[in-house]
Amino acid sequence: VDKNSQRLTIAIQKSGRLSKESIALLQACGFKFSLHEARLLAHSSNQPVDLLRVRDDDIPGLVMDGVVDLGLVGENVLEEVRLERKATQLACDVQRLRALDFGQCRLSIAVPKEEAYNGIQDLDGKRIATTYPYLLQNYLQDRGVSANNAILTGSVEVAPRAGLADAVCDLVSTGATLEANGLVEKEVIFRSQAQLIQRPEPLSAAKQAIVDQLLPRIDGVQMARE
Ligand code: PRP
Ligand code: ZN
Ligand code: MG
Repeated sequence: VDKNSQRLTIAIQKSGRLSKESIALLQACGFKFSLHEARLLAHSSNQPVDLLRVRDDDIPGLVMDGVVDLGLVGENVLEEVRLERKATQLACDVQRLRALDFGQCRLSIAVPKEEAYNGIQDLDGKRIATTYPYLLQNYLQDRGVSANNAILTGSVEVAPRAGLADAVCDLVSTGATLEANGLVEKEVIFRSQAQLIQRPEPLSAAKQAIVDQLLPRIDGVQMARE
């Protein structure tokens, strides 16, 4: 990505729950893209706008570092990365432009259905598998619980059966993944939806003009489908 480019760069999730709706929203706002599966970067054919398709976990950092101008990302990932970068003294500011009407999910603690559960204190001294260690530790600390993390980058839901952990802290949308793995949701620790974020430093006048045009279009698209 050329930082001095006059083209507005928007990072979106390459493949996952937000991908389709992110592209659909930008198209509904009038941007035309031809997407090639293999390519990371997609140029708009009718606006000076480029899409960068990356892992969702990378989007907040790219925006916070000003490598890209805008990002569409879940609040869950945004907040986890913010906490992680704050703890490691990396830039962690962003501008939140809009809450978007898709990507609703919650980050929850779940335990195997055969385990008794009488409250969060039952997790004291236990091991919890998660890809969200900062959000989880914040929640536990506030409640005086000290548990151990098993930090996984995926397949968190199989950790209890595999003997890697006593509980999980993972995203829940329909609940099908928990159900399929014999897990029961016990604590909702964070509620999330997609967000449009912007890098902290001001944009060039040309890029700002595109954003000024984009925001009312997003509002219009979202209003129309309410
Ligand atoms: C989340 C989570 C579960 C699934 C839950 O993964 O890790 O696997 O969604 O959804 P459900 O309640 O509808 O079954 P996600 O799709 O965000 O992908 P990731 O784990 O690769 O980030
Ligand atoms: Zn992810
Ligand atoms: Mg998953």
